[in-house]
Amino acid sequence: ASVLETNTDVTAQRATEDKLDRTRSELAHLSRIATMGELTASIAHEVNQPLAAIVANGEAGLRWLGRAAPDLGETKKSIEAMLRNAQRASDVVRRLRALSAKSTPAHAMLDLAAVAEETAQLVERELRVQGVRLLADLPTGLPPVEGDRVQLQQVLLNLLLNAIQALGAMPPERRTISVRVQRGERESLGDAIVVTVEDTGAGIAEADLARLFDAFFTTRSDGMGLGLSISRSIVEAHGGRIEAGNRPDGGATFRVCLPVAGSAA
Ligand SMILES: Nc1ncnc2c1ncn2[C@@H]1O[C@H](COP(=O)(O)OP(=O)(O)O)[C@@H](O)[C@H]1O
Ligand SMILES: [Mg+2]
Repeated sequence: ASVLETNTDVTAQRATEDKLDRTRSELAHLSRIATMGELTASIAHEVNQPLAAIVANGEAGLRWLGRAAPDLGETKKSIEAMLRNAQRASDVVRRLRALSAKSTPAHAMLDLAAVAEETAQLVERELRVQGVRLLADLPTGLPPVEGDRVQLQQVLLNLLLNAIQALGAMPPERRTISVRVQRGERESLGDAIVVTVEDTGAGIAEADLARLFDAFFTTRSDGMGLGLSISRSIVEAHGGRIEAGNRPDGGATFRVCLPVAGSAA
């Protein structure tokens, strides 16, 4: 009877874990959609640019054809440029779809420096518009972590958007974000990859540090307070840790530590 009981316990526990997994990924999905809302201007711009280029290339092609002696070589170049730009637009849409898709979590070996690089590209326009300088230290050849690419991108995206928002109130010469990916030993995690996102904003009030990762905690008038709470649940589901603090010379610092694949502590 004791064996049966144990099996039932294990089955029940697994069912609970599966359910938790699904709830987490649904929440993560909802917050990704919300985050994409914050990126609407950039998204529109990224799709519009290649579309505008296609129109210009098409017009140029027609002009080359409409000449008394049509220039087929130039027409061909215009058509090729149209195809390149159409490909670019479709790449943007594919990236967005991946971010908004309701996918079941996929586990892959990931290079966190590459994931950070891709995420930085998503906020390129936000950085430019707000005049924020991004210093990135993303070495190649770090050992991989195991996890879901979209979810980990979401964590870094939340941290970057928060940092950009924190810098909005700062004078232009004090708008810097630095992103670093390093290998490090972490107590209780062992061999780990550590991602640090720091900004030169006003930092976090001492009293808020303890509540930062709580669901619905926000100090922004249009904030939802879900970004950090979902980020923490994602990081912990990956066996990692996320922590926040203030830099000695002002500004917030966030650190995400994830175990190196195969180095279970
Ligand atoms: N880089 C940062 N600098 C200062 N405060 C921050 C930073 N990142 C997050 N915070 C604080 O944490 C709160 C919660 O962040 P988050 O969970 O992303 O929700 P939201 O962005 O919707 O407010 C923010 O409202 C802000 O008070
Ligand atoms: Mg946020």
